Amino acid sequence: MGLGRLVALLCGGVFWLAAQPPSAPSGYVGSNVCRACHPDVWANFYKNPHYKSIASGHEPADRTGCESCHGPGQAHVEARGGKASIIAFSELPQKQILDNCLRCHAETLSRANIRRSAHTLNDVVCTSCHSIHKSPAPKFLLAKRQIDLCYGCHQEVRSQFSMPFKHRVNEGFMTCTDCHNPHGAVAPTWRMAARPRMVDQALSNEEPCLKCHSEKRGPFLYEHEPVRVDGCETCHYPHGSTNSRLLRRPVVFTLCLECHNGADHFGRQTSPGAGVLPLTGTHNLADPRYQNCTTCHVRVHGSNSDALFLR
Ligand code: HEC
Ligand code: HEC
Ligand code: HEC
Ligand code: HEC
Ligand code: HEC
Ligand code: HEC
Ligand code: HEC
Ligand code: HEC
Ligand code: HEC
Ligand code: HEC
Repeated sequence: MGLGRLVALLCGGVFWLAAQPPSAPSGYVGSNVCRACHPDVWANFYKNPHYKSIASGHEPADRTGCESCHGPGQAHVEARGGKASIIAFSELPQKQILDNCLRCHAETLSRANIRRSAHTLNDVVCTSCHSIHKSPAPKFLLAKRQIDLCYGCHQEVRSQFSMPFKHRVNEGFMTCTDCHNPHGAVAPTWRMAARPRMVDQALSNEEPCLKCHSEKRGPFLYEHEPVRVDGCETCHYPHGSTNSRLLRRPVVFTLCLECHNGADHFGRQTSPGAGVLPLTGTHNLADPRYQNCTTCHVRVHGSNSDALFLR
């Protein structure tokens, strides 16, 4: 047999298989049967992204419509209803809810780390945030508007976004998911992979901050080590602060002196006066002129022209 003919036969076989209606394993009755007794659920279901499996008609029974999540319905129908005869999410332990949804939703990058996420480890699962049948949010089947959803469990964060200096999340200009992946994030490439905090990664594994503050991205000829290595949160509060520029310290020089204090990289005090930033000599901190570090070191995030970030 010629190669061409073999290929043609194989292809034909594949087309033949694809053209067959999906075989129905036992126990599946089809979504139309559910309609009669659950008209309220049906009424909205055509708008649900999960309706696609019904519309297409090409999915196997265990991946089509109502039974793709609730399991085979025959026993339930024969019993004329009841929670024991079908997968009722109101009765399921969190772990099983997670497994049920991840049967189809595990493959994408955005949820690759979900099992190790702080949410999963604390029993916050899909249905804590998503509502399949009663979602009031236009997108992503969220159980509530995103901001209400997250603040529902993270009250303390709301007050951070009400501080004098803040990212305007409460005003609707940004959302939590501009910076966080509530499904869990991979270990960050910055700050030595510590404290991941479900902070999402933007392109090429960089901090999400750089999506918007792209002028801080570099690469700079002269980098200020903490910006890339330790991350933006070393000096800034990401949510809100009583200090201008979202800084972690009210006065800029106290922030700088936390590191430029005469100790070496390992926190050891070097010989007196011989540290990274001696208190005597050119930098006389008693002289108010020297206290406002960034009036001279204007390129504190990195510079292409000066190793001391003076320009
Ligand atoms: C993507 C998975 C999924 C699909 C598909 C699905 N459901 Fe549900 N269903 C759920 C979850 C999860 C709940 C628990 C409540 C919630 O989160 O909305 C639920 C709850 C229910 C309830 C309990 C009442 C209620 O509203 O909470 C009924 C009845 C129900 N579903 C019937 C159906 C029917 C009928 C279909 C097909 C038209 C269907 N479901 C399709 C996941 C699904
Ligand atoms: C003959 C009527 C009937 C048919 C057909 C039917 N159900 Fe039900 N279903 C009921 C009744 C009655 C209940 C019990 C409601 C209760 O206890 O609150 C129920 C409960 C449920 C629940 C549990 C709701 C909860 O509170 O968690 C789910 C899920 C469900 N049905 C899904 C389905 C699906 C999916 C189909 C189609 C395969 C289906 N039902 C077909 C009558 C029916
Ligand atoms: C802590 C809350 C939370 C939990 C838990 C959660 N989600 Fe989400 N999910 C969200 C939010 C918020 C969005 C919207 C993301 C955005 O705005 O970009 C979303 C988006 C999605 C999307 C659409 C966008 C995408 O990433 O593909 C899918 C699908 C999804 N979630 C599935 C799941 C599944 C499945 C689970 C459980 C295994 C789950 N989610 C658990 C909050 C959550
Ligand atoms: C049988 C496979 C299957 C199961 C099980 C399943 N989903 Fe989905 N889900 C899908 C498909 C397919 C889509 C549509 C993707 C698209 O639009 O391209 C989807 C879309 C979504 C979306 C995105 C909505 C949007 O607006 O983009 C969310 C959120 C979601 N599912 C949550 C869940 C949750 C929560 C569960 C468990 C209760 C679940 N899914 C179970 C197949 C499944
Ligand atoms: C501008 C980016 C950004 C936005 C927007 C944002 N976060 Fe954060 N969030 C972060 C970063 C970065 C951290 C890690 C801080 C650290 O480890 O020092 C964090 C930490 C957290 C923590 C861990 C507790 C803590 O204080 O370390 C929680 C909880 C949290 N964020 C919730 C939220 C919620 C809820 C929203 C939306 C209302 C939100 N975040 C919006 C960047 C952001
Ligand atoms: C049902 C409650 C619940 C909801 C809804 C919820 N969270 Fe959480 N979240 C938790 C719990 C519990 C933890 C773990 C304990 C803690 O750090 O407070 C947590 C932890 C976090 C953390 C810290 C992770 C870490 O590594 O320390 C961040 C960031 C976070 N949530 C963001 C969000 C965002 C963004 C949303 C909205 C999309 C959200 N959460 C919705 C309950 C919730
Ligand atoms: C979605 C876009 C976006 C992301 C992501 C983002 N920011 Fe911002 N940021 C802004 C905008 C817009 C402002 C302007 C202030 C406002 O909205 O009121 C701002 C303001 C700031 C300011 C204060 C500037 C000033 O002039 O006072 C700092 C500092 C800052 N962001 C740091 C960060 C850090 C650190 C991160 C990451 C944890 C981050 N941003 C993530 C959009 C973003
Ligand atoms: C070593 C501490 C430090 C680190 C790390 C740092 N910043 Fe800053 N940042 C500052 C200081 C100090 C200012 C205030 C400068 C001034 O006084 O003019 C500032 C100001 C800003 C501003 C507002 C003024 C401007 O220059 O646009 C933005 C936005 C900002 N930083 C974003 C970021 C982002 C994004 C990162 C992470 C990539 C980051 N910062 C990392 C110290 C730092
Ligand atoms: C989290 C620690 C940290 C903070 C905060 C910090 N720096 Fe640095 N800075 C460093 C490190 C580490 C280097 C690299 C030192 C080296 O290569 O020997 C550096 C280098 C510098 C240099 C280049 C000179 C040199 O010794 O290489 C200047 C200038 C500088 N920092 C100024 C500042 C100013 C101004 C601030 C406050 C806005 C500040 N730094 C805040 C850690 C920090
Ligand atoms: C009046 C301008 C000016 C101010 C304000 C200033 N610097 Fe400098 N800084 C310089 C100049 C010029 C140099 C390089 C030559 C030198 O060492 O005098 C320098 C050098 C440095 C160096 C490199 C190592 C060293 O000791 O020479 C560091 C680190 C540094 N400054 C940090 C700071 C910090 C932190 C502050 C705030 C407490 C600050 N500077 C305030 C002008 C200034």
